Amino acid sequence: MDKEIKILEAIRTRRSIRIYHKDRTLTSEQVSILMEAALRAPSSMNRHSTQFVLVEDKEKLEALSHLREKGCSFLADVPLAVVVLGSPMECQHWIADASLSAGYLQLQAWEMGLGSCWAEVAGRFTANGQDSAEYVRNLLDIPYQLEVLCIIGVGYTNGEAPTRPVEKLKWEKIHIGKYQEPEAEQE
Ligand SMILES: Cc1cc2nc3c(=O)[nH]c(=O)nc-3n(C[C@H](O)[C@H](O)[C@H](O)COP(=O)(O)O)c2cc1C
Repeated sequence: MDKEIKILEAIRTRRSIRIYHKDRTLTSEQVSILMEAALRAPSSMNRHSTQFVLVEDKEKLEALSHLREKGCSFLADVPLAVVVLGSPMECQHWIADASLSAGYLQLQAWEMGLGSCWAEVAGRFTANGQDSAEYVRNLLDIPYQLEVLCIIGVGYTNGEAPTRPVEKLKWEKIHIGKYQEPEAEQE
């Protein structure tokens, strides 16, 4: 393949969005394109171990927004939550598979003029101390062989999300040729 395909503008401008237009819904075509992007992500041994539960029901979205004490309240305001499920029995690299799908979905959302945000589930707890994955599992009938990694909320952005200037990126995390210890800070 030698044809140039541009994705950098979406990568450059994408931000996590936590404030949404509460009454703007997505079309089934939009949802379908988002999920196509998630399904096209690279996967270990081409196993495509990740599964997804799409939630559009307002009551369920509200319930999902309480899966943790804080950090997930935006899920009550999105028209779509994509619950990302890993399958350890299908692939030992299920976290990588599921994370790549989630990232592809988020980037595709941005390219379509939609905002999104990752809500972490694995290893977290509700305000009552219940395991967050267990809470989601009960709410959506998710079987035990699947792990709930995260939920991607998607919707129309309500407000500005400033692009990060290129000079603010952590370029010091890049090492050329071999790893180099960071220089000690001067007193
Ligand atoms: C593994 C992972 C977990 C995250 N968990 C949450 C979360 O639970 N709630 C939230 O509001 N944002 C969450 N985020 C989004 C990050 O806070 C966000 O990507 C980061 O602050 C950088 O901002 P940006 O996406 O606008 O560049 C998560 C992102 C990742 C990759």
